[in-house]
Formats: sequence, C-alpha cells, structure tokens
Amino acid sequence: MSHNSIGHLFRVTTWGESHGPAIGCVIDGCPPGIPLVADDIQAFLDKRRPGQSRFTTQRREPDAVRILSGVFADDAGRQVTTGTPLCLLIDNVDQRARDYADIKDKFRPGHADYTYWKKYAIRDYRGGGRASARETAMRVAAGAVARKVVPTVTIRGALVQIGRHRIDRSRWNWAEVGNNPFFAPDPAIVDTWASHLDDMRKSGSSVGAVIEVVAEGAPPGWGAPIYGKLDQDLAGAMMSINAVKGVEIGAGMAAAELTGEDNADEIRMGNDGRPRFLSNSAGGILGGISTGQPIVVRFAVKPTSSILTPRRTIDCFGNETEIATKGRHDPCVGIRAVPVGEAMMAIVLADHFLRHRAQLGSGT
Ligand SMILES: Cc1cc2nc3c(=O)[nH]c(=O)nc-3n(C[C@H](O)[C@H](O)[C@H](O)COP(=O)(O)O)c2cc1C
Repeated sequence: MSHNSIGHLFRVTTWGESHGPAIGCVIDGCPPGIPLVADDIQAFLDKRRPGQSRFTTQRREPDAVRILSGVFADDAGRQVTTGTPLCLLIDNVDQRARDYADIKDKFRPGHADYTYWKKYAIRDYRGGGRASARETAMRVAAGAVARKVVPTVTIRGALVQIGRHRIDRSRWNWAEVGNNPFFAPDPAIVDTWASHLDDMRKSGSSVGAVIEVVAEGAPPGWGAPIYGKLDQDLAGAMMSINAVKGVEIGAGMAAAELTGEDNADEIRMGNDGRPRFLSNSAGGILGGISTGQPIVVRFAVKPTSSILTPRRTIDCFGNETEIATKGRHDPCVGIRAVPVGEAMMAIVLADHFLRHRAQLGSGT
C-alpha cells in the first residue's frame, strides 16, 4: 500500500525525503496550453521558505524549483503545459545528516519516529525522512500549478491565532497579510505575537496556531454528493498537512453553539439577479457542493515538537531516555503552514473543477 498521491483528475504525487538528494512531485492530468514557467511556482515556494524572519527556522533551503517535464513552447513561443505529466524537482542543499546521528535510535516525542519504525521496521532518522514537512514544499509547488487551472479563483490564507492570542476579526485586512512575518490580517496583533514567540523561543518551548484559508470566485456547483464532497476532500487535504490536528469548514465547531436561525444562511435575490446569501456559516459548501460563496477552511497546527527543553522518551531497544533539540528551533510551525494550506485548497479545487467539467461539460 502506498499513499503518496492526492486528487482524481488533477493528480499530485510527491516523492523524496528530508535528507535525500532531492524532493519532487509529478502532476498528472494538468490540462494543456497553460502558460507555466518555474518563476510562477517559485513565487509561492518563496513564501514557505524558512529563514525569512527570526520566527521561523534558520535552515537554509533556497528551494529552487525546476520543471523537468510536461512543458513545451506553443506557436507563440510561450512555454505552456502539454497535458503530459509535469515533473517538478527541488534539490535538497542544507541536509546535515550528522545533526541526527546521536538521536538515530531515539523516538522524538510528537514526531512520526515511533510509528514509522513500528510499522516499517526501518526508518530514515535524518530529519524525519519522508514524514518531514520538507515534503510540503512540493505541495506548495503543485498548488502553484493548480491555481493556474482555476485562474478565476482567488485563494488566500492567513494566520488567525497563535497560542491563546487571536486576531480581532473586525480588523481583518487582506492587504496586511504580506506586511508582517506572520501572514496576520490584523496588524494590531503583530507585536503581541512577536513578543509571545520571542518568549517561547527563549524558554526553549513552542506554540500552536490556527490558519484560515479562503477561496473566492469558485462558482456554485463544484464538488459532489455523498463520498466526493468538496468539504470532505478539503478536510482530508488540510488534515494531511504535517502537524495539523483539527479542521473546520465555515462555522466549524462553533456551529454546535448556534441556533438553527443563526446558523442557516438565509437567501435573497440580489440586484444582479443571482441568489445572495445573508451569511456563510456553511463555509461556501452545501451538500458537498459549492454555493458560490467564499469557501472557508480553518485548521489547527500543533506546537513544534522539536524543542530545546528535554523531553522523556524511549529508544528502539526499549530503554528510557531523554531527548532535546540542539541549536535553533522553530517556535511556531503554523506560520510556514499558511502557504501549504493555500496550496492544498488550490489542489482540491483544481481537481473538483476538472471533475465537474468532466461530468457536466463546463466549469461553471
Ligand atoms: C511547514 C511545516 C514545517 C514544520 N517544521 C517542523 C520543525 O521544524 N520541527 C518540528 O518538530 N516539526 C515541524 N513540523 C511538524 C512535523 O513535520 C510533524 O509534526 C511530524 O512530521 C509528525 O506528524 P504529525 O504531527 O502530522 O502527526 C512542521 C510542519 C509544517 C507544516
């Protein structure tokens, strides 16, 4: 059994380990004729890249992507997709396996070390191997291609909570997301988060976060009933991201506290002759099918497991021992998960757009 692929018609398969020579992905099913150069993808990878502020790991991963297949010059000389498999590759250039030599027999709490070893009886101990979030770089690369399959959809992500500190949603401003190192839509929270994370890092600890991803411009009708629900696929896609422990669509868990009057999104006719929903508790999806409203997904990322504070664990011989991360650590991996969440939204929507078109002959 192998589970390294996502999607039906827009199908992404990733490969590679944290400390192997390279990581990559194959995208099968991308339609032909879409202009695509490496820079289109690089722009999104640069948002995920570590070492961009003191709040993310200082590992040097330039993450320069190459397109190995699936593109060619069209009649106008532009490089476009050919409809054949796209293969994207990133060389791993900052792998220092020796950093992990003294913990190779120990299981890092909160990591996949124990479960991989128990399941496969062999584990690549270098940086988590296949379980490493290094893999998420390829999700971001594939997400950049997926966005081009659904160009009328705008997909944006933001960090809405770090530890107990939430943004004030009344101050939400998308234009602010690029102006701070946290992807925060509320500029007033930035100082609070910065000092909280400085405290966390100095004390050798870490903290979790909540990310919200919103897709605007998807028409009504994408998705499918029963076992192909759009919200089901989005939840699975977000949950597949490393360290994600909770996913919500629309009102999510808070729907349990609402009444039917408050939760049901009433409908009127808009001046443009199209239905207008008065609220969006459903997160833009009803019966597994998009309503045409913004599609809203939130996910919770757990605190970084690799921390300076020693933690109790065992080794593969059954001995009780302790483990601590040396050097710099990432006090909140949720920050770098924002572009990853956007990418998963794009991959799922591209797949559902193609599935919708396959069944009904049009995208809208
Ligand atoms: C973008 C990103 C970067 C991550 N970087 C780290 C890290 O530097 N240290 C760490 O302990 N966990 C990190 N994680 C989380 C681990 O990869 C994850 O917790 C681990 O593989 C176990 O998987 P699980 O938490 O999904 O069960 C990161 C997660 C994401 C999304």
